Amino acid sequence: MRTQVVIIGAGPAGLLLSRLLWREGIDHVVLERRSRAYVESRIRAGVLEPGTVDLLMAAGVADRMHREALTHDGFHLVFDGRYAHIDLKELAGSPVTVYGQTEITQDLIAACLGTDTKLVFEAEGVTPCDFAGANPRVTYAKGGQTHEILCDFIAGCDGFHGVCRASVPPGAMTLYERVLPFGWLGMLTETPPVEDELIYVRHERGFALCSMRSKTRSRYYLQVPDSDSAEAWSDERFWEELRRRIPGSAADRLITGPALEKSIAPLRSFVAEPMRFGRLFLAGDAAHIVPPTGAKGLNLAAADAGAMAQGLAAYYGSSDGAPLETYSETRLRHVWRAERFSWWFTSMTHRFEGDAFARRLQQAEFDAVASSRAFRTALAENYIGVFRNGSPS
Ligand code: PHB
Repeated sequence: MRTQVVIIGAGPAGLLLSRLLWREGIDHVVLERRSRAYVESRIRAGVLEPGTVDLLMAAGVADRMHREALTHDGFHLVFDGRYAHIDLKELAGSPVTVYGQTEITQDLIAACLGTDTKLVFEAEGVTPCDFAGANPRVTYAKGGQTHEILCDFIAGCDGFHGVCRASVPPGAMTLYERVLPFGWLGMLTETPPVEDELIYVRHERGFALCSMRSKTRSRYYLQVPDSDSAEAWSDERFWEELRRRIPGSAADRLITGPALEKSIAPLRSFVAEPMRFGRLFLAGDAAHIVPPTGAKGLNLAAADAGAMAQGLAAYYGSSDGAPLETYSETRLRHVWRAERFSWWFTSMTHRFEGDAFARRLQQAEFDAVASSRAFRTALAENYIGVFRNGSPS
């Protein structure tokens, strides 16, 4: 079998790329190791930048999002009980959209299945081959049969632990990594959110985040040691700890209920450079990870997919290879901006053991944000990914 592009991984990056390529008439196949049910039920991020919303519209998958998503003009930052409100709309010119990655994945899969796109779930042993040269191939097995697909390009959208980056010859990419000694314990509940907007909380006991998926569904997070396991946290223990970390007025309003899902995500910063080797192009978590504090992971993945689709459209539509040639360089400028921001926001809001100087610096950072419109504007622009005062292009 032969196609133009093989997309490895049916997460948001791979599926969005598929829809954008389909709109351009570019022939492609999507291969996913997991089952459809698994991919559709993974609970992940929930805050969309305006650029991500634009891409979902361009991909023709925005109808349900427009009906069901919440629009947030800002968020709250709480530091040892002191509030600072970050008015995204006023400071940076746009609100954010609150809509779960789970919903986006479902919408994208439904859109794929409505077309002739070949989307293969439970593809075993997916292997990208010969991508250093002009004739890449991808092999995989399904239902006891092996398959080989010849293609022009391979899009590696298979996440941090995926086979794509791992298949690049050692030394061809430089890997930058910092692993934090704690994780986020997340809990999803069918309860109304404690507040209309998100609350990011810095507290002596550790970071907490009050987020949501709808007006009746909440998503809460607690900073926990990386040695913790989700099983060690009963629902009661979670609620009790959350109540201790969030401001008293919010704790009084908190409505509790049973967990629909509870899991721990490690926190790390990671970048692979360049985001391309030969005819293999990486997108999303396969190329970079940010700690979730800045809500950047899904948005970076979507922007990668958008840039890769543009590059492939120029290549096939007008024989212009330049945008593909500059894909990695262009994306890395945005990626490092998001890495810097996510690192900074994480450093300011999380508890680090035993460093009194760092602790006072956190306070100085918060004071700067609380007292300076310029600092708040920088925070707001980075959060929504729109830079009116100078953008990396
Ligand atoms: C979420 O709702 O899952 C969420 C929101 C904001 C973040 C991270 C995660 O910064």
